[in-house]
Amino acid sequence: MNAPLKIGIAGLGTVGVGVFRLLVEHAAGFISDRSQRPVVVAAVSSRDKGKCRGIDISKVRWHDNPVALADDEDVDVVVELMGGSEGVAFDLIRKALENGKHVVTANKALLALRSVEILELLKKSKGTLSCEAAVAGGVPIIKGIREGLAANKISAVYGILNGTCNFILSEMRSTGCDFDDVLKEAQVKGYAEADPSFDIDGIDSGHKLSILAGLAFGCVPDFSSVHIRGISNISPIDIEFAEDLGYRVKLLGIARRTEKGIEQSVEPCLVPESAPIASVDGTLNAVYVDGDYVGNVLFTGEGAGGEPTASAVVADIIDVARGRVLPFLGMASSKAEILKPADINERIGSYFLRLIMLDQMGVLADVSAILRDCCVSIESVLQRGHSFGQPVPVILISHEMSEGGMLKAVKLISKLKSVVKSPHLMRIETFGTIY
Ligand SMILES: NC(=O)c1ccc[n+]([C@@H]2O[C@H](COP(=O)([O-])OP(=O)(O)OC[C@H]3O[C@@H](n4cnc5c(N)ncnc54)[C@H](OP(=O)(O)O)[C@@H]3O)[C@@H](O)[C@H]2O)c1
Repeated sequence: MNAPLKIGIAGLGTVGVGVFRLLVEHAAGFISDRSQRPVVVAAVSSRDKGKCRGIDISKVRWHDNPVALADDEDVDVVVELMGGSEGVAFDLIRKALENGKHVVTANKALLALRSVEILELLKKSKGTLSCEAAVAGGVPIIKGIREGLAANKISAVYGILNGTCNFILSEMRSTGCDFDDVLKEAQVKGYAEADPSFDIDGIDSGHKLSILAGLAFGCVPDFSSVHIRGISNISPIDIEFAEDLGYRVKLLGIARRTEKGIEQSVEPCLVPESAPIASVDGTLNAVYVDGDYVGNVLFTGEGAGGEPTASAVVADIIDVARGRVLPFLGMASSKAEILKPADINERIGSYFLRLIMLDQMGVLADVSAILRDCCVSIESVLQRGHSFGQPVPVILISHEMSEGGMLKAVKLISKLKSVVKSPHLMRIETFGTIY
């Protein structure tokens, strides 16, 4: 048997405890068989040594300062599971790479926001960085793109990247409840954080999308170019009307390579109910990859949680043990290009626009005049209920047009006196396919 691979874990929270348990449970069995060497947890670090975590850390070294794991000569792989793009997580990764150690991390925020620095460190380091758990938790999407689909030129990668949002939208559809009520339920069930803004505002999906785009297109992840809309303005009416029209509402991250640059967006979209992604419900994630030779491939599974995420982290550790770690973006760090973002205003698509308008003579004529002036052509108009002088929902479905034109029209419509609530716009996403 080869020499053991010694692991140092920084962060013993949801994921760190899952990784510790998985390694303790299976390291002596199939993990060492697959790794062809023993894999042992040698050291750990977290904020509070005395905290009850349901694991026995008495037989491993404890470091008060996580960065000390990078200098621990008896640690071969530093596993960063603290989170955050600033401070100690970055300090630890930098030190570990400077010391030539292998790094495994689940930290999507750090990779999305600091890839330029990470790639610079990797250029000079004998160490490597693996991050399967950073996108879609237990779903092996990073290996899927980097290894299984390595022979393809990828034109698009898109999907449901946040289980919290998918749970909320699925529950709103099945119960007809408001966003706020379902969010509270998600918090009680442990699917949403006490401060859910990172998830519901689309930031978390944006971090993951920029990493996927980096892998798929061979470019430096560029979170700042992701066009983001969250889900907190979605009402049960939107979901109901979408359903009547044959669509489901999903928060999608979409990255496309276009002639005008890389298009990246995270936003609630209407997807045809016959599209496979429409029935990916609850906390599941799903990612499609469009490759020129393979066609369309769908990956799906649990995108978060201690055990699924530990599965991905330990898979990366096994790669290190086997001596077969691939570069972060699947190619030499020096080859990662900085690709131009496409202007989102030039994106072409059709749209679902929900207005809450006073039911009065002539109000639709005002809206039509604005749409005509902004060159927005309407496919259908739906109004439910009739209550003269009272607010009623009106849904407009546009033909394909530029996003810039649609946004201009929405801005003008929102100023009409008869429009009593901010209009809500959602893209209709058919993935270039008629389902
Ligand atoms: N949770 C998921 O389902 C999931 C899925 C995919 C990716 N991730 C990523 O995995 C990482 C960890 O997530 P998590 O959910 O496990 O987080 P968590 O439950 O909040 O755990 C974070 C851990 O890091 C430790 N920590 C934080 N700041 C520290 C510091 N300054 N010094 C030392 N230790 C520190 C905490 O210590 P104490 O316990 O001592 O306070 C805690 O054990 C994040 O990057 C996250 O984005 C999580």
